[in-house]
Amino acid sequence: MIAIYPGSFDPITLGHLDIIQRGSRLFERVIVAVLRNPNKMPLFSVQQRLEQISFSTRHLANVEVDTFDGLTVNYAQMRQAQVLLRGLRAVSDFEIELQMAHTNKTLSTQIETVFLATSNEYSFLSSSVVKEIARFGGSVDHLVPPHIALDIYQCYNQNSPMLNPITTEAMPRKSIPTESPMEMLREQEA
Ligand code: PNS
Repeated sequence: MIAIYPGSFDPITLGHLDIIQRGSRLFERVIVAVLRNPNKMPLFSVQQRLEQISFSTRHLANVEVDTFDGLTVNYAQMRQAQVLLRGLRAVSDFEIELQMAHTNKTLSTQIETVFLATSNEYSFLSSSVVKEIARFGGSVDHLVPPHIALDIYQCYNQNSPMLNPITTEAMPRKSIPTESPMEMLREQEA
């Protein structure tokens, strides 16, 4: 069974990655589909988000990353997927997600929406929360993968995020690197 995990992923968080990882154990294939939405002003371009997600999921052999526009169910049908995968963090998500699932059902009876309860530790986490923290100079190292944290700091032109008093895992940097965060990480891994 093929599952589509649709979303904006601006940027992808550890909460999204938790759903992808667990989804990849349930489905033959998980396609992480980034919506190309001309009505939104994203922090990262679609291409950047594709790279960020591909790099974050490189250890998962049955996970693919793609983009789409238009209706999610049409994209799912085009990819011969049977499932739309979504994470549920709280009751507040449930209302909108249920409405979306019902709407999608009216558009295609062939596609089922499957919800995974987000792991407890990520129940508060969203891309918006990550951006808000970073915008005001806080550390997001405990909320997104390291290469994405670097991308975010670079976006906000931030040299040294404040140390997170709880995780104390922030990586203060002396200067903004000249190479891209992705290149830096690949070098570190090589
Ligand atoms: O990460 P998000 O922003 O919560 O994802 C929302 C998304 C992309 C899944 C949803 O907006 C969507 O499916 N958009 C495509 C348009 C569509 O199919 N609309 C009908 C369902 S309401």
